[in-house]
Amino acid sequence: MTAELVTFEEALALNTLSPSHELVQVVRGRRSGIAIIVALHSTALGPAAGGCRIAHYPGPGAAVADALRLAAAMTEKNALAGLRHGGGKTVVALPAAERPSGAERTALLHDVGDTIQALGGRYVTGPDVGSGPADMTVIGERTAHVCCRPVEDGGSGDSSLHTARGTLAALGAVAQEAFGSPELRGLTVGVIGLGAVGGRLARLLERAGARLIVTDTAPAARRAAAELGATWVDPDDALAAEVDILVPAALGGLLTAHTVPRLRCAAVAGPANNQLDTPATAELLAARGILWAPDVVVSAGGVIHATGVELRHEPEEETAGRLTGIADTLREVFRIARDQGSTPARAAAELAARRVREGVLSLSGEVAP
Ligand SMILES: NC(=O)c1ccc[n+]([C@@H]2O[C@H](COP(=O)([O-])OP(=O)(O)OC[C@H]3O[C@@H](n4cnc5c(N)ncnc54)[C@H](O)[C@@H]3O)[C@@H](O)[C@H]2O)c1
Repeated sequence: MTAELVTFEEALALNTLSPSHELVQVVRGRRSGIAIIVALHSTALGPAAGGCRIAHYPGPGAAVADALRLAAAMTEKNALAGLRHGGGKTVVALPAAERPSGAERTALLHDVGDTIQALGGRYVTGPDVGSGPADMTVIGERTAHVCCRPVEDGGSGDSSLHTARGTLAALGAVAQEAFGSPELRGLTVGVIGLGAVGGRLARLLERAGARLIVTDTAPAARRAAAELGATWVDPDDALAAEVDILVPAALGGLLTAHTVPRLRCAAVAGPANNQLDTPATAELLAARGILWAPDVVVSAGGVIHATGVELRHEPEEETAGRLTGIADTLREVFRIARDQGSTPARAAAELAARRVREGVLSLSGEVAP
């Protein structure tokens, strides 16, 4: 778990001194006794949307800091995805590494549901690290403000295929920017992590005619790699594999001052959240001439699908069309970066801020200056 180590008081003081978030609520679950933090960064574009992370933290300060950071990232992600949603996040701070199961888990999820219900629709939750679609059904026993429940429970189900489809669209825009054509056929693509999203994406890439170099820390993934006709590399060597596009599809924090010099690729673009350890790493990538596609844009397929199908009851085809819009957004991000001589990371942050500003003005009937 990557979380800044700050004290509880420091985390809250940060938001009090510079009120970046609309609301930060820390609740002790009535049934579970466990700390539940809900951070609403912005509801300017609509109800905040963002998942429910259930994880062990070294202390309440680290959990609050993580909730603040993740909620702010959701504002950017939802704005860049063109959604009428702001950004928010739930963090359940487990007192021990062991995750509750059975009746204890149900009690905890009901506490989460009550906490979200009390916000009266200002925030909608979904799965994140430590929670899954079945948990959303249990949360849904206490609140309607939840999505990604399993299809058999009336929800939009597992979002990983849609995240993979959105990533595939993004890779077309990356290929266009880096190589002058959106064609993936014949390109060598390195996929790090063959889990729910990475495994599906690798299949889509294989069908698109890309040559695959893949890795995963789970030995069972070797079989999936063989079925795809992909070349297997050890996880330790994957970063330095010679590829056209490197696709991080495992954990965040992969790109650091230590790892960027090892890269042998023209571009990095994948669904893994929070790929940069710090914003400054975007400058290191740019200095090496490596095109980086911001993960807040690339990984939005899941939230686009879930909010469209489950909250707005859009037909699947309409949502599928909006997944390909990820490529348009990415092209705009690259264009802004090129025009301003900045990085895609800074361009994405600027575009997200502009969309929030314009969205607020259009909701209030004003015109952007
Ligand atoms: N599931 C979604 O819809 C979704 C949406 C947006 C973003 N994401 C992000 O995409 C990433 C993947 O999500 P997922 O749902 O596929 O998770 P997952 O847990 O199903 O898959 C992750 C895979 O990465 C492997 N892995 C872990 N550490 C590794 C390492 N050091 N090297 C190589 N492989 C490693 C794991 O064994 C696993 O197979 C995460 O960062 C997640 O936050 C997922």
